[in-house]
Order: sequence, then C-alpha cells, then structure tokens
Amino acid sequence: MFTIKHNELRAEEFISLWETVWGSGPSLEQTRLAMDHTLFRVSVFDGDKIIGMARMIGDMGLDYYIKDVIVRPEYQGKGVGRLLINELLVFVNDNGISGTGVFVELCAMPDKIPFYQKFGFDSNEAQRLKMMYTVR
Ligand SMILES: CC(C)(COP(=O)(O)OP(=O)(O)OC[C@H]1O[C@@H](n2cnc3c(N)ncnc32)[C@H](O)[C@@H]1OP(=O)(O)O)[C@@H](O)C(=O)NCCC(=O)NCCS
Repeated sequence: MFTIKHNELRAEEFISLWETVWGSGPSLEQTRLAMDHTLFRVSVFDGDKIIGMARMIGDMGLDYYIKDVIVRPEYQGKGVGRLLINELLVFVNDNGISGTGVFVELCAMPDKIPFYQKFGFDSNEAQRLKMMYTVR
C-alpha cells in the first residue's frame, strides 16, 4: 500500500524525484524557497521511497495552478498520477469559496494532455509564453 503525505514534501525529495524524469534538477536553495511558498504539496511513498509528487500554487480565491506532477517511472501506470490529481482537487474543494467557480490550470506537453483530460481539463487557443529570467 502507498502512503500519502500532505505538506511534507522536502526539497531534497523534490529534486531526487524530478531527476528520475527530467534530468538535472533545480538547486536546493531555489527548491526550498519554492516548497516554502507552495499552497499544497502532496507526496506518495512506497515504504520510505518517494514515488510521486505534485503541488499547487495560487491565490486560493480565483486561481489554482498545478505544478510538478511526477510519478517515478517504474510506478507509472498504476494509478498514482490519478491519486495525485484527485488530492489536489480535494484541496481546491476544501479551500475555495463554496459555490464559486475557480480556475484550476496547468501546462502540459501534448502527450500528457489525454491524462489531464480524464479529470475534465481542456485547452484553449492560448499559448504559453515563457523566458528563463536570470535574477540579478
Ligand atoms: C503523467 C503522469 C503523471 C501520469 O501518472 P501515472 O501514475 O502513470 O497515471 P495513472 O496510472 O494514474 O493513469 C490515470 C489514467 O490516465 C491514463 N494515462 C496516464 N498517462 C497517460 C498519457 N500520457 N496519455 C493518455 N492517458 C494516460 C491512464 O491510462 C489511466 O487511465 P484509466 O484510469 O482510464 O485507466 C506520469 O506519466 C509522469 O509522471 N510522467 C513524467 C512526468 C510528467 O511528464 N508529468 C506531467 C507534467 S505536465
């Protein structure tokens, strides 16, 4: 059985899981700051091994933004991704203002869009604009 943890995801765990799918991860200092300012962190463990994580950033009232949904490669296809998204949506439900509509957004590569569509996410014609800004 897997263990689900709320708001316990540590920067070291984040980086190690990140590196199982995306290569060299962000710095510890940046990641610690990010963890401290994340609304909600969910992590999934098999024993003492982290196998999945996801986090939610946002303003609670109008916008929630899903970041860093990662399942360890050898655990993919076992329902962990679904569990993570469901946990994030429960967080929105528990914290948003009852009866109001809030945007839950994310950015996904084309091959991951069908995964998110299973939960009701849909895309529009907007494009993601980004740059890697170097902090002085
Ligand atoms: C995308 C990811 C989180 C999915 O996690 P997962 O644990 O493999 O997904 P699950 O086993 O919970 O799958 C849930 C459902 O989505 C489907 N699904 C999963 N990935 C899919 C994909 N790429 N395309 C289509 N369907 C997919 C499953 O078949 C399953 O369908 P079902 O419930 O109808 O049987 C995982 O593949 C991953 O971590 N990938 C690498 C990191 C990444 O790219 N993250 C997304 C960033 S936007």
